[in-house]
Amino acid sequence: MTSFRSASDLTGTQLAEIFTRGFEGYFVPVQVSPRDWSTIVRSVGVDLDSSVVAQVDGHDVGVMAISVRGRTARVAAMGIAAAFRGRGVGRALLRYGLAALDERGFERVLLEVIDGNEGAIRLYASEGFEIARRLVGWERAVGGTTPRAIELLEVDPVQVARFAAAHGHADPPWQLAPETLAAVTPPATGLALPSGDAMALVVDRPDGTTRLLGLAARSDEAASTLLSGAVARKPDRRLSHPPICPEDHLASAFGSAGFTCTDLAQWEMCRRQ
Ligand SMILES: CC(C)(COP(=O)(O)OP(=O)(O)OC[C@H]1O[C@@H](n2cnc3c(N)ncnc32)[C@H](O)[C@@H]1OP(=O)(O)O)[C@@H](O)C(=O)NCCC(=O)NCCS
Repeated sequence: MTSFRSASDLTGTQLAEIFTRGFEGYFVPVQVSPRDWSTIVRSVGVDLDSSVVAQVDGHDVGVMAISVRGRTARVAAMGIAAAFRGRGVGRALLRYGLAALDERGFERVLLEVIDGNEGAIRLYASEGFEIARRLVGWERAVGGTTPRAIELLEVDPVQVARFAAAHGHADPPWQLAPETLAAVTPPATGLALPSGDAMALVVDRPDGTTRLLGLAARSDEAASTLLSGAVARKPDRRLSHPPICPEDHLASAFGSAGFTCTDLAQWEMCRRQ
């Protein structure tokens, strides 16, 4: 028997465990500690009151994490423990969570799904989600010609968020929205061209790579200059941007700075009430 309870009734440790089990065998390894879980909650703005845990015979078997922003909600993550998949629990959880959002008056619900995740795409499509656009990632391997050094200023991520609000994508995906960028904290930092024509967020990761968390510019040329500067700044680190960029957005800037698309891409899907 499937039942549901609000994620706010569980501890962070319980939610981290359900989350990890929900993503067993996923495309990318997902192992979430209680500390990671609280970072996720803060950085992507998971609303625990809107998020739902599914139970089968009294055991927690899956979670639908929801973020909310104005009249838009987002399925930040959804996973069912492997042993309980394919039995209708995911659909029931999705319907339960969406019905509650509809009742509260949210106008649209967004989500992103890896483009090869056929099962999840089929589930979402059958519950009213439509594909809105393709989101791609970018990477630049170490090696090749290092661009000449370009002066970059380190700035507060909040400044990058404000710049992105004025000069970034007019309809940014959730993870590139100024509200998301403003939640970025050290050790991540903002980088800016001294001209103020382009800004980005970067974080050095323990695995020796640098991750771009967002890029906004007044022109493709300025974006490309900033990307080249970021490469020259840390030539021994692979630079990558997760697959959250609308595919046509700043694509020529990434291309001219030596970046190629990552293998992993996502669909952004949208359901309107
Ligand atoms: C995607 C997921 C949440 C679906 O939950 P679930 O409990 O397995 O799904 P259900 O049993 O309710 O099935 C609902 C629908 O999903 C689709 N579906 C689910 N798994 C599928 C699969 N392996 N292949 C094809 N379709 C699948 C079907 O359309 C199914 O509808 P049907 O029962 O009418 O055929 C679950 O498989 C999961 O946790 N996967 C790993 C994590 C993940 O991929 N999360 C989504 C990230 S965006």
